[in-house]
Amino acid sequence: MKETILLSSSDADLRKAANIIVNGGLVVFPTETVYGLGADSRNNTAVTSIFTAKGRPQDNPLIVHIKDSNPNTLQKVATDIPKTAIILLREFSPGPLTIVLKRNPAIPPVVSANLQTIAIRIPSHPIARKLIEYSNAPIAAPSANISGRPSPTTFAMAKADMFGKVDAIIDGGECHHGLESTVISFEDDMVHILRPGAITAEMIKSATGLDSVYSTHERNVSASPGTRYAHYKPNAIVRLSEKIDINRLIDEYPNQKIAVILYKKSYLKNSSDNIIIKNFNLIEDYARDLYKTFVEFEEANVDMIIAETVPKAGLGVALMNRLERAGEA
Ligand code: TXA
Ligand code: MG
Repeated sequence: MKETILLSSSDADLRKAANIIVNGGLVVFPTETVYGLGADSRNNTAVTSIFTAKGRPQDNPLIVHIKDSNPNTLQKVATDIPKTAIILLREFSPGPLTIVLKRNPAIPPVVSANLQTIAIRIPSHPIARKLIEYSNAPIAAPSANISGRPSPTTFAMAKADMFGKVDAIIDGGECHHGLESTVISFEDDMVHILRPGAITAEMIKSATGLDSVYSTHERNVSASPGTRYAHYKPNAIVRLSEKIDINRLIDEYPNQKIAVILYKKSYLKNSSDNIIIKNFNLIEDYARDLYKTFVEFEEANVDMIIAETVPKAGLGVALMNRLERAGEA
């Protein structure tokens, strides 16, 4: 067990956290997407300890968080930056967009699981930004969950997964988006979405003027190495359903405790003690609270979570991607 200190978002505490990063330690910090588990990306030993803390397979590369998209900052971590990347960074950063570029050899290969590429992101969350600024380091950070579990979107979730495994955890309340960033790569100046997120295909098309953006996450799981591992899974079976009939569920599973997530439904009356119901009226709310809801249901010891599907458009693509992954056997 490591000794873990809990920090607030006060300036003094953020300087403490930055010091820990500078000295090769691990800090869990909030971002606008999910909590991250950060270390100085230039420190081989520190980065290696991220994999140990999460129980993450060594062949799943990390994202490096940097302060801005100035050429100077970018060139410290990446090389050969395509024009489209600059356009997208200008439009959507700071924010929930991660782009895969060619890695600058100054960043040790362990960060990218020995790939020649590097994933970079410029977070907009003020705490994440201060941590980068005060440590003056490009911070390598995967989501702060134990490998395979839902990403933490609250301080309590981050603590539950990472207390005793890291040097510090910063309390930044709840994350705004609740799903991990959109990950994109470029090939022949075409954009490939490796992981869908809050920056949608529609947004990327309109910013770049490209008429097609490849949704690599649907066709080719090996393009983004991390996507082949089990992910986003709570300790309960997750099933998806286009239409949920509560009364039928009660008949079908008389002896099981079931949790149901509904989308835009008004009948919320609990007709059985064995069923917990939660409804979201907006995709944004469903996305933001998805992992938190999974963990709440898990803590209520439900046997199964049945989640209603949403249309695969806009943010619905990212939400459905996480639901489908959580539901995989
Ligand atoms: O919102 C986020 O992106 C959060 C916050 C903390 O920034 N981070 C996050 O990191 O979700 P992680 O490690 O859980 O997911 C990173 C994803 C994985 O699917 C990984 O395979 C992919 O990005 N990735 C990282 N580097 C890559 C690379 N060089 N080439 C292709 N995919 C890469
Ligand atoms: Mg993750």
